[in-house]
Amino acid sequence: MEKRVIGILGSPLEEGNTALLLDTALQGAEKAGCAVEKIIVSQMQISGCMEMMHCKDHPICEVEDDMIPVYGKIRDCDGLIIATPIMTMGIPGELKCFMDRFQVFFMAKYVRRQPLVSAEREKQRQGLFIAISGMNRKDVFSGALLSVAAFFDIIGMRFADQLLINDMDQKQNLRNYPDLVDEAYTKGETLGRLLISTP
Ligand SMILES: Cc1cc2nc3c(=O)[nH]c(=O)nc-3n(C[C@H](O)[C@H](O)[C@H](O)COP(=O)(O)O)c2cc1C
Repeated sequence: MEKRVIGILGSPLEEGNTALLLDTALQGAEKAGCAVEKIIVSQMQISGCMEMMHCKDHPICEVEDDMIPVYGKIRDCDGLIIATPIMTMGIPGELKCFMDRFQVFFMAKYVRRQPLVSAEREKQRQGLFIAISGMNRKDVFSGALLSVAAFFDIIGMRFADQLLINDMDQKQNLRNYPDLVDEAYTKGETLGRLLISTP
């Protein structure tokens, strides 16, 4: 059966460095034989989680906005590539709102014990995290990694791999660093191959 990989862009810049890495990783996954799709979070009209708790008893969110069609896509995809810049030592606010809205999956998995993704499928679903930061300090990705690891767990996805590139204030344009862009391609292709090789 066809394997589907979704890329989530956390940067508001559709032609920026983060977007370049995401598009390149998706090309790699496509080359491996997967069908790919990109979700640009900054184009979506979404609110954060309003804590209405409807999802405590129902497998859907009561807030009717652009998140609604996304839930099924994330439930049914085989691979996920999240690409984001670091903002204020974490992930950008819009991407955080997006992730927080997956409380729907959290409640199903951990409160009702009726996960939207089976334990067997969770092991097969592969997630890749790509992040870039302006600064060159050791802990610059720590906050984002905590959020993304929690998110992958909530949606039932193995945290398979990561590509973290710091010092963008110096590097400026990743088009001048073809090795790093190639790394994104290789990681996307590896993720795609892994998915294609699983039944
Ligand atoms: C609002 C804002 C906050 C930022 N905060 C941080 C930060 O806390 N640490 C850091 O290393 N870089 C920070 N940056 C720098 C970005 O991570 C960096 O410029 C990145 O290359 C942007 O990627 P993009 O152009 O693909 O969106 C920030 C940038 C913006 C716009």
